[in-house]
Amino acid sequence: MEGKRKTGALKVLHISPEAAPFSKVGGLADVAGSLPPALRRHSADCRLLTPAWDGVLDSIRDQGLQLTRLSRKAEAVIRWRIYRATVWKCVADGLPVYLLDAPDLFGNTIYPRDLDPDTAIPFLFLSLAALDLPETALWKPEIIHCHDWATAPLPAALQWHRYFRHSRGDYRTVFTIHNLAHQGVLPLMSLEEWGIEADARHLGAMEFFGMANLMKAALVASDAITTVSPTYAGEIQTDAGGEGLAGLLRSVSFKVSGILNGIDVNYWDPESDALLPANYSAKDPAGKKICRTSLLEKAGWPDDERPIFSIVGRMVEQKGFPILIPALETLVDLGCRLFIVGSGQPEYEYACGKAAERWPDSVFVFSGYDEPLAHLAYAGGDFFLMPSRFEPCGLSQLISLRYGTIPVVRSVGGLADTVFDFGSPRGNGVVFHDYTVQALVEAVSRAITVHRDERAREELVLEGMKANYSWDRSAPIYARLYASLLQ
Ligand code: GLC
Repeated sequence: MEGKRKTGALKVLHISPEAAPFSKVGGLADVAGSLPPALRRHSADCRLLTPAWDGVLDSIRDQGLQLTRLSRKAEAVIRWRIYRATVWKCVADGLPVYLLDAPDLFGNTIYPRDLDPDTAIPFLFLSLAALDLPETALWKPEIIHCHDWATAPLPAALQWHRYFRHSRGDYRTVFTIHNLAHQGVLPLMSLEEWGIEADARHLGAMEFFGMANLMKAALVASDAITTVSPTYAGEIQTDAGGEGLAGLLRSVSFKVSGILNGIDVNYWDPESDALLPANYSAKDPAGKKICRTSLLEKAGWPDDERPIFSIVGRMVEQKGFPILIPALETLVDLGCRLFIVGSGQPEYEYACGKAAERWPDSVFVFSGYDEPLAHLAYAGGDFFLMPSRFEPCGLSQLISLRYGTIPVVRSVGGLADTVFDFGSPRGNGVVFHDYTVQALVEAVSRAITVHRDERAREELVLEGMKANYSWDRSAPIYARLYASLLQ
């Protein structure tokens, strides 16, 4: 960007394929829905662009929010075809949101099972529509902040525009990696199918072991790369954690940083959470017992003081199911109860379901996502279990800390930055290191010991509940990063 920027609030457009409360698959949605409004409170003019997947516009209307249709559509040319979307605007939690409405592109599933030149088009369109948005919204950002592979074509396309000195190129870009395991990899010929010459100078960066890799192109082309915790920022630059991109990330390490996620502390607040049977706080913890009783009732369990370990989240390999499932029998023998809410890979759903049939008194599984049940799991459990293989940040441990439910975690990624073992000065949980069944079982045994010691337990709960997990910690770091890009 040439010359000095005019004064006034920094203008930043966030783009994300999912954003709560509009659409949600995983933690990306929570961040895309809560970071931009938090940044607005830190005086950046942040706005959000996201697709109106099936049902999204209706649910916005049901919530009583006003939707305005912009008079011009957003357009992008892909494969010699003009794709168009109606753009709706609403203001949610103080945040202006632009929703792309094109039923042929944004239907009822967000991520396709297989990525190919056709199934990737919605994401290509989302990225390119961001460049067309200023003409529709009559608002032009200075920075475009892209989230995950589904928005990765944008920095690459911008670099192309810049190369040809196209006027659309005068933005700075930030690319946030929420999960390096998903890179948007598809056949190399897709580029040609989209009308992009495979050897085009700046897009050559998309080549990846004979395939096209959208995220790789974004890492090369964007002005800054962030990821969602400081530890993960280091891990992705190692061969063990780099998912094939460690070398590239090391070569651009000057523009990589790790900024810890926050949570929406107004939504996740045990003192006012309307989905709980009773509210509570560190000062007045009585309600937590009522939540525990209600959880026991939901599972059909009598109260016999056995510790309850909650798990809420996607049942995928990343979350540690390969070490959890073989540990279940031992955990049950040790006297644990497991309250599991989530869905994901069929083999893990099946194995958990079988465990619930075999040990109905100790294992409860709800397959699917149920918001009130998830809140009850956070509030009513004694512990929250996250044996993740890797964890870019993790939001569940932050929520469980705030809800006075002691996290038991593997020390990796964002878990290592937020949960500290009870022996240490800032101890707020139980931590283990090795990704093995044995290490998990040992950590759970230590948690059971804590459970029996009322004083130790209370100290951990209080330490967890008093910390600040809001975006107020990280929003100023993003604001500084944006400012540095415009200097
Ligand atoms: C992804 C990661 C998770 C992170 C979230 C939000 O879901 O797996 O660790 O907290 O994105 O950044």
